[in-house]
Amino acid sequence: MNNFLEPREDILGSSGYFSPQVDASVRLNANEAPYAPPEGLTAGYEVNLNRYPDRSASKLREEIAKKYGLRSNQVFAANGSNEVIQTFLLTYGGSERSLMIFKPTYVMHSKIAMVTGTPVIEGQREKDFSLDVEATCDKILEDKPSLIFLCSPNNPTGLSEPMELPERILEILTTYKGILLIDEAYGQFAESNFLTLIAEDKPLVISRTFSKALGLAGLRLGYLLGPSWCIEEIGKVSLPYHLGTLTQEVGIKALKNSVSLENQVIDIIRERDRISESLKTLPLEVWPSETNFILFKPTNQDAKKIWEELISRSVLVRDFSMVDGLEGCLRVTMGTRSENDLFIEALEEILR
Ligand SMILES: Cc1ncc(COP(=O)(O)O)c(C=O)c1O
Repeated sequence: MNNFLEPREDILGSSGYFSPQVDASVRLNANEAPYAPPEGLTAGYEVNLNRYPDRSASKLREEIAKKYGLRSNQVFAANGSNEVIQTFLLTYGGSERSLMIFKPTYVMHSKIAMVTGTPVIEGQREKDFSLDVEATCDKILEDKPSLIFLCSPNNPTGLSEPMELPERILEILTTYKGILLIDEAYGQFAESNFLTLIAEDKPLVISRTFSKALGLAGLRLGYLLGPSWCIEEIGKVSLPYHLGTLTQEVGIKALKNSVSLENQVIDIIRERDRISESLKTLPLEVWPSETNFILFKPTNQDAKKIWEELISRSVLVRDFSMVDGLEGCLRVTMGTRSENDLFIEALEEILR
């Protein structure tokens, strides 16, 4: 007999998003920015909260479009890029379609696919976490997924894909009609990105966020850039008034200050390179990074134990040691210089 007191079978059998929220004074686990935004950013708004927000977020989308040399009908905005990706999959995914991802990658891609009822086809990264262009194209040609996700730079492994990869995938997508989404949540930390590939005649969309380089994870604002025919369909799926007035206003102000907000990217990159060098002097495997985090693996001690030992010193990093393909790995987000020093000192003490 049906039991409608239980949720859908696929939800019942799944676990929610898991990342322990431990109380720690040095929080280097969620790839947030360590610096508080300028004080003026959230002060002095005169908004009519008795009224619904601008349903199409037109001014915000115009500002985003301007930043990228696009038109506002090539921009969709939502409450964080997770919601952007969810709305994309609600529009273009579903049980009759499929999504190809390449593991290990950002875990929410497959979780959102599950919630939207979209079957996932898993491709695998190489041992060094790169994607082999030929093998990836062969896999796509074999399975012909409706949708393909790349995460570049990839979370949690850290590196960008070469330009050749999306170019070749877009060539393949001229032989059958599918869409490529590139998640560039960490795009501003990388040396290259794929923004120049966006065009009306290409089935490519790129998601970005205010949460990382702009340092506004608490704002919950992300966006999708792509051809207007695709953005228009996605706009039909989002709930009416989904993006609050304050979010839109702060987003617009942040974009007008984006040059100064993005200055922190330079500091974070400098810290990342400094901490990478320190980690390399310890008994660890350290992966190169084009993001605000570093993936590393203790070579002669148990990663889970090290994670616990760090917590006992009030330093919180992300534990991937039990995740498929990332066995024994930990990930540290770049904090302020002093937070990073505390992390390195604690790690040195544990590994000694
Ligand atoms: C690769 C990637 N994409 C998307 C997100 C979601 O970001 P937000 O929903 O805060 O925009 C994250 C957050 O960690 C991420 O790592």
